[in-house]
Amino acid sequence: MRILITGGAGYIGSHTVKALAAEGHEPVVFDNFSTGHRWAAQWGRVEEGDLADRERIRSVLDKHCIEAVVHLAGSAYVGESVSNPAWYYRNNFVNTLNLLEAMIAAEVKRIIFSSSCTVYGIPETLPIREAAKVDPISPYGESKRFIERMLHWFEKAYGLQWLAFRYFNAAGADPDGDLGEQHEPETHLIPLVILAALGKIFPFRIFGVDYETPDGTPIRDFIHVSDLAQAHVAGLRFLSGQGASMPLNLATGSGESVGSIIRAVERLSGREIAVQPCPRRAGDPAVLIADASRASQLLNWHPRYGIDTILETALRWHSRNGGGKPDSS
Ligand SMILES: NC(=O)c1ccc[n+]([C@@H]2O[C@H](COP(=O)([O-])OP(=O)(O)OC[C@H]3O[C@@H](n4cnc5c(N)ncnc54)[C@H](O)[C@@H]3O)[C@@H](O)[C@H]2O)c1
Repeated sequence: MRILITGGAGYIGSHTVKALAAEGHEPVVFDNFSTGHRWAAQWGRVEEGDLADRERIRSVLDKHCIEAVVHLAGSAYVGESVSNPAWYYRNNFVNTLNLLEAMIAAEVKRIIFSSSCTVYGIPETLPIREAAKVDPISPYGESKRFIERMLHWFEKAYGLQWLAFRYFNAAGADPDGDLGEQHEPETHLIPLVILAALGKIFPFRIFGVDYETPDGTPIRDFIHVSDLAQAHVAGLRFLSGQGASMPLNLATGSGESVGSIIRAVERLSGREIAVQPCPRRAGDPAVLIADASRASQLLNWHPRYGIDTILETALRWHSRNGGGKPDSS
């Protein structure tokens, strides 16, 4: 299939483009490189563009005879969304409306959307299932929820087929070493712990050491980025076979505490990490673990990598690429 990947130069997008190309698809990256990287767009064609420009999206869809869209482009900092909600409604919600309108006009009827576990807010029960209450506590999470609702109504009105992948914590790097995580600023736990081990962050701040968890630190469900990428390959196959539209959790279903991640990175890197216990952050639940069995069954998708591979690949990536790859490479 000829597939447009919005945000294909970003962290998850670039791994997804690689997986789609390996599967024989023809990926076309659509990205404005605001947080993505030119070095990460290594497979398929690249169309520089902004989702704010509906005509540009339409012309790219037509030019490449696109058959399906994987939509990852957007802004993804929870904290920033609280201080600047207008931007999150514009870049995530309004710009996705542009994309969907361009798709309908170009008669492209299949889309996989990058949603997020943040749509659930503070979960009432664990593990979190797709049927759980959707009640986001940040504009970021809410922008994802609005987009899911928009997809629902676009299916009814225009026959759009969609999957909303609710990723839990994406982590790790391409096992071949071609790609990895490079966000500026970095806010994700695993790269931050690794940067602390490499001496680039001092001390490492743990937000909350008094949770009701075995070591007092929060527990999260980490999923390897290449497993997420494979889920998109499986999701497109599912939609091509006229699979039903729905949200799906993408996770491993097992939890790791912040403390256990720190200890594992210390072991792997052979370096001690100086930690500073800090108060809990507002809105950070003690435990976030998903039930991803629906995605496993429907897509015949099974995560291949556990936490050890996540940490090994991420550590290798950050050790090799120091302070980050330059965008000219
Ligand atoms: N990383 C995670 O753990 C995680 C978890 C849940 C959901 N998500 C979602 O997955 C998606 C990808 O996340 P990521 O970590 O790879 O982020 P990322 O910032 O690395 O990638 C986002 C990409 O979108 C591009 N982009 C942003 N706005 C654009 C616009 N208006 N037009 C064109 N391109 C634009 C950026 O340049 C970048 O390449 C996001 O939608 C994010 O909300 C990520």
